[in-house]
Amino acid sequence: MLKVDVITLFPEMIESAVQYGVLGQALKGDLLQVATHTPREFAAPPHRQVDDRPFGGGDGMIMLSETLEKSLLKVKHKNSKVIYMSPQGDVLTDEKARALSKEEHLIVICGRYGGIDQRIINNYVDEEISIGDYVLSGGELGALVVIDAVSRFIPGVLGHTDSADKDSFSEGLLEQPNFTRPRKILEQEVPEVLLSGNHKLLGEWKTKVSALVTLVKRPDLFQAYLEKENEKYRALKKKKTEAPLKELKKFWMNLSEQDRKVLGLAELNEEDFNG
Ligand SMILES: C[S@@+](CC[C@H](N)C(=O)[O-])C[C@H]1O[C@@H](n2cnc3c(N)ncnc32)[C@H](O)[C@@H]1O
Repeated sequence: MLKVDVITLFPEMIESAVQYGVLGQALKGDLLQVATHTPREFAAPPHRQVDDRPFGGGDGMIMLSETLEKSLLKVKHKNSKVIYMSPQGDVLTDEKARALSKEEHLIVICGRYGGIDQRIINNYVDEEISIGDYVLSGGELGALVVIDAVSRFIPGVLGHTDSADKDSFSEGLLEQPNFTRPRKILEQEVPEVLLSGNHKLLGEWKTKVSALVTLVKRPDLFQAYLEKENEKYRALKKKKTEAPLKELKKFWMNLSEQDRKVLGLAELNEEDFNG
């Protein structure tokens, strides 16, 4: 079980959001535990102040280090990993979420106002994590993003019908498009192969479509994937197929106009396969 302690001035934001869907199930199934702690409980009455003006002036307030540190020390132990949600951190990735799911205990600090005192970061924080290159008014939404993304990798949280290993990014590719009944809607028909029931064929087809979708939507990811595939291909002694990009081009050329359209691949051209 992964235990997550969130330090926040707005505990209700975290407590209510984690009750829903997959996270709610993970909590009920004791696969995940989320608790909140507020520095306000350590602040002196009557005002229970948890912020103060920054040294050197400037806009906004900074979270007081004393109350924040007390909250942190209440839950921290030798196996804790302390994360500070921050726009200055490394942007969360699938790989990072997977790695964090293997931790025993995460403490997630949510900043508010102008952020937290740098000395708390220097002394206690193992990792600063950002959820993107923009500034939020607080770390709570970021913390929820981290908790959600990490929890999906905890064994048992997703049933076997919905494995995280088949989702986008797991093999360095985006997932192929999905369809459900009816077979034809909005003048668009589901590709024939999806009705074939041939699992080996379907597996290969889905991987190739994933690669093409990634080429269209995320050429940066596609390049990284292609380099790995080329490496594997070069290492093969007996080459039964053509080089990965040539193979993919052949697959794309054999797709019908209709399938290309319904799969969102209509904008690809022969030049996109020039390497
Ligand atoms: C208004 S922001 C402070 C921004 C800080 N003054 C700066 O410019 O780096 C308040 C809090 O929101 C959270 N936050 C803001 N943007 C974030 C992001 N992109 N990812 C994660 N947390 C973020 C952090 O916890 C931060 O302490």
